[in-house]
Order: sequence, then C-alpha cells, then structure tokens
Amino acid sequence: MKRLFLFSTLLVFLFSSVSADELYEVNYNIIPLPKEVKTDPSKKVFFMLKEGTGICYDQSNAECTRIAQFLKEWTKEATGLTLQLTPDDKNAMIQLRLVSPAAPKGKKSKKPVALTEQQKESYTMKVTEKGVELTAYEPVGLFRAAQTLRKCLPERPDLGMMPYVEITDQPRFTYRGVMLDCARHFFSVEFIKQFLDVMALHGCNQFHWHLTEDQGWRFEVKALPDLAVKGSVREKTVIGPSRMRIYDNIPYGGYYTQEECREVVRYAAERYINVVPEIDMPGHMQSALHVFPNLGCTGGPYPVAPHWGVMRDVLCGGNPETLTFLKTVFGEICDVFPSPYIHIGGDECPKERWQKCPKCQAKIKELGLTDESNVKVEGGDTRGSQDGRSPENKLQSYINHEIEQFLASRGRSLIGWDEILAGGLTEDAIVMSWRGTKGGVAAAKQKHRVIMSPNVYAYIDHPQLKDYGKQPRTTDSYIVSCSKIYSFEPLVPEELSGEEGDYILGVQANLWTEQVAYPEHALYQLLPRLASMSEVQWCNPEQKDFENFKTRLPRLEKLYDRIGVVYCPEIE
Ligand code: ACM
Ligand code: ZN
Repeated sequence: MKRLFLFSTLLVFLFSSVSADELYEVNYNIIPLPKEVKTDPSKKVFFMLKEGTGICYDQSNAECTRIAQFLKEWTKEATGLTLQLTPDDKNAMIQLRLVSPAAPKGKKSKKPVALTEQQKESYTMKVTEKGVELTAYEPVGLFRAAQTLRKCLPERPDLGMMPYVEITDQPRFTYRGVMLDCARHFFSVEFIKQFLDVMALHGCNQFHWHLTEDQGWRFEVKALPDLAVKGSVREKTVIGPSRMRIYDNIPYGGYYTQEECREVVRYAAERYINVVPEIDMPGHMQSALHVFPNLGCTGGPYPVAPHWGVMRDVLCGGNPETLTFLKTVFGEICDVFPSPYIHIGGDECPKERWQKCPKCQAKIKELGLTDESNVKVEGGDTRGSQDGRSPENKLQSYINHEIEQFLASRGRSLIGWDEILAGGLTEDAIVMSWRGTKGGVAAAKQKHRVIMSPNVYAYIDHPQLKDYGKQPRTTDSYIVSCSKIYSFEPLVPEELSGEEGDYILGVQANLWTEQVAYPEHALYQLLPRLASMSEVQWCNPEQKDFENFKTRLPRLEKLYDRIGVVYCPEIE
C-alpha cells in the first residue's frame, strides 16, 4: 500500500513536472468542447495507459468491433502504444459499453425508450483508477466517445497518465455538415476519404457532395453513359479572375463511377457520416446541356463551361424531356445514395432564356402561373436569378414539385438552396440558406426545415486572414475568419421564436472549389476553420468563448500534424 502511494506520488510529480508542455499531456480541453467535463484535482486518481492495455467491447457487435479497432489505431498514432482488443471484462482497462436508456421516472414500460437524435449520439467518458469507461446508447455515441478519448490522449507513452474525469456529452444540432464542390475541380476518392476522416474528427455527420456543375458532370448515370463521359470534360480552364477569360488550354475532367460513390457512402457510414448528393438544377447545368443540347431553350451548342460564374443557359423548363431526364438522374442517385435528403440545387438560375422560350412560356400558360413578380421573396445577392414571385420562378417551383413527388416515392426529402423560396416552397422542402440567414428565417416561419449556411459565416472558399498575401489565392470578396465563423448563432433568436427555431436542423460549411484545385489547398481552406465551425454545430451558445477556443486549438493542431493534414497556421 505504502509502495503504491509512493509510486503514485512519483507519477503525480512526474505529471506535474511536465505539465508546462500541455500539448503532450492528457488534456480534456478538446474541440468541440463537450457539454460537461467534471474534473477534480483533489481526487488524486488517475489511470496509466500502458503497452498492452486492453480495450474491451462486445465482440458480437460489428459496429463496436470497428470502433474498438479505430481506438486502437488512434492510440497507436498518438502514443505509440499498442493496445489489445479483448473480450475479457476483468482485465480490460478501456471499456466500450452500450447501455439501455432508462425509462422516465415513474413510468414502467416494456417498450424501448425512444431516443432523440441528439441522445442517440450522446455518450459518457469516465476515467478512474480502474480505467476508462465509454458508454452510449447507440454505436454512434460510442464512436463520438472514442473520438473524444482520441483527442484527450497524450502524445508520448511515458505521459499516458489520465487524471480522473467524467465527461457527459451530446451535440446541439442534428445536422452538422460540410460541402465539398467536386465539380469545379475533381477530387479523388482517396482524398474524399481523408476529408471524411477530418469531418469525423470534428464531430460532423453530413457530407454534402456537390457533384454537378456548368464546368463538369461528375456522377455516372448508367442509363445516360455520355453524361459523365462527355459532360465531365471541359476543354480548358480559366486562369485567374474569370472575367479576364485567359485559359490554360488544358482539357480537364474526371467523374465518379457508381461503384466509387458506393465506396464513399460505405466509408462515410463507418464514420457515422451521411452522404447528401447534390445534382444542381435547373441552373448550373451547362455540362449536361453539352451532352443533351435539346434540353436547353436555345438548342445549343453548349460547351462544358471553361470559366466560372452564373451561366444564362439552363435546363428548359417547358420541355417535358427535362423532367424525364431529371427523374432518370435522381432515380440513379437514389439507387446509389441511401441519404434521407437529396439536394436538388436550385440556386442561381437566370430566367432570361425562359422568358423568351416558346416552350417555357407555353408551360407557364398551361399551368396558369400568374405574374406576381412584385411580391418579393427573401434574398440578397441573387446573381441573375429573379427574387420576385414571377411566373418563371413559379415554373422552377413546379419542377421542384415534380422532383419532390418523385423523391418522396423513394422515401426521400428534398433540400434546395434558398432561391427555391422565390417561386413558392414545395410541401416538404428543406431550405439551405446561403445568401445570409434571411431565406432560412423565412422558411422556418413557414414551418420548413432549414440548414443554415450563410455565406459570410460559412463559405470557406473565402480567405481566412486579412492579409491576402499570406494565403493561397481564393474567392476574395470578403473574409471568413475563424472568429467570424465562431460568432455565428444559427437560431437567429432576434428573428425566430423558440418554436420557429426548432426548424433549424443545423449548420454547414461550404467549400467551393473554383480556385481550389488540389487536396492540400482544400485542407488549408478547411482547417482550422472546421474546428471553429464544429463548436457552432456541437456546442450550446453559453459554452462558446472564442478566447478559450484559441487556447484549445494548438492541441488539435498537433493532432492535424500527426495525421498529416495541412492547415492554415494562423487564425484571426
Ligand atoms: C451558391 O453558393 N450558389 C449556393
Ligand atoms: Zn425553355
């Protein structure tokens, strides 16, 4: 007993003698910050991680097995220690345990307790002298717990002493997304896997995959093979500012086969990330028009766009073949992606072709769409799209309605950018608010679900530092710094009542890639801004404190170094 006391005193001494270098210690000040972290320095209780420490879990459960394996990898990566996967409860020091939720007090029921989405992701992590215990109701909660333990680990095996703690945690929002535009520039499946790993590290659970654009079609549609083969290739790409029209004259292409998409879905699901595919329509469709010029109002020809911006040529809203085409594409999207949400784009669809097109105008007449363009709908910078309730905007809404019905027949809901408000929202539409928060506020007031992704807080294609010279060239009209992102409050309490706020599903960061052609650049844009965004997505407002966040960031950046991801070394 005495010897044990001496030993522990020695360890405490050892621990405190190195505590100046916080980066290497066990440390519970992680990102995103858990809901509750109870430490007690007066309890001189700690657990020492060692070579061969056991990780115990239910080996009959495939998900628990995978999570235990992740934890083993992450411990090795952090400390160099090799832990043992074991079913042996008695000797194992790290335990992953699924527990049943308790029935509310006073209610005895044989029925399983229904959990909220947040409770499904909730977990506890307890460190005592006996070891580390991770508990959750569902495997996803255990995965979040394992990520938390990973972020707490020391970086050296000799400092593997973990002081007493009790962490209780669950996310604030159920939708915690990141969008990657793989259409302006193509990113390999290998990189997308790395991107998903980084998302999981930050507690994100929705990967919005932007798959089609004027500049390239990146999703294989088996019924329309030319779409990807021909629509994915542009002859050249503009260099520098788009308006200068100076090109590199190098053909650029790439698309994902359905098999590759399924592999991404599988990899993401193992990390508890849902993949939300986007087919952006009826605007941003010039790559499809290149292959099927009959689907445009003018008949073409149309090149796959070699420069950036909002293109005038869009799918013809009056041609019945447009809907046939869209149903074929969305049908195959539903076959490949099990996501409950399918993104249909809907942004930046100029209506000048529709205003002049006999087919579009005939359809407007047939549907009896009246002109209420004086009725302005929420929107800021509309960049070529009308924001009033014009007949053309209503025609777009009609197309959305058809696609909504189609997706509903496959059990899915539609997400659209906030321009879909203009012609009138379809019944079940979820609005992704990008031109500020106004569209999201308007949609929530109409009792529609909303994902907040306002450009000035969430567009991480923009620079993160004031000094443009310090960072790679990007879209440069405004700065989206870490502190700016951090300051975002998605429920917009000054405009939404508590009940209306319930329609806000969550928040998303968007990485457009007109100026981002390489994986390292994409990661530089993403990090550490995703750390900042992760606290908007995960933490309650009263927990948030940017100064405190800054003190916690260097430790996470050490982890970025360890896993070999690029990040911007400064924050503002
Ligand atoms: C968008 O940024 N056009 C959604
Ligand atoms: Zn037309």
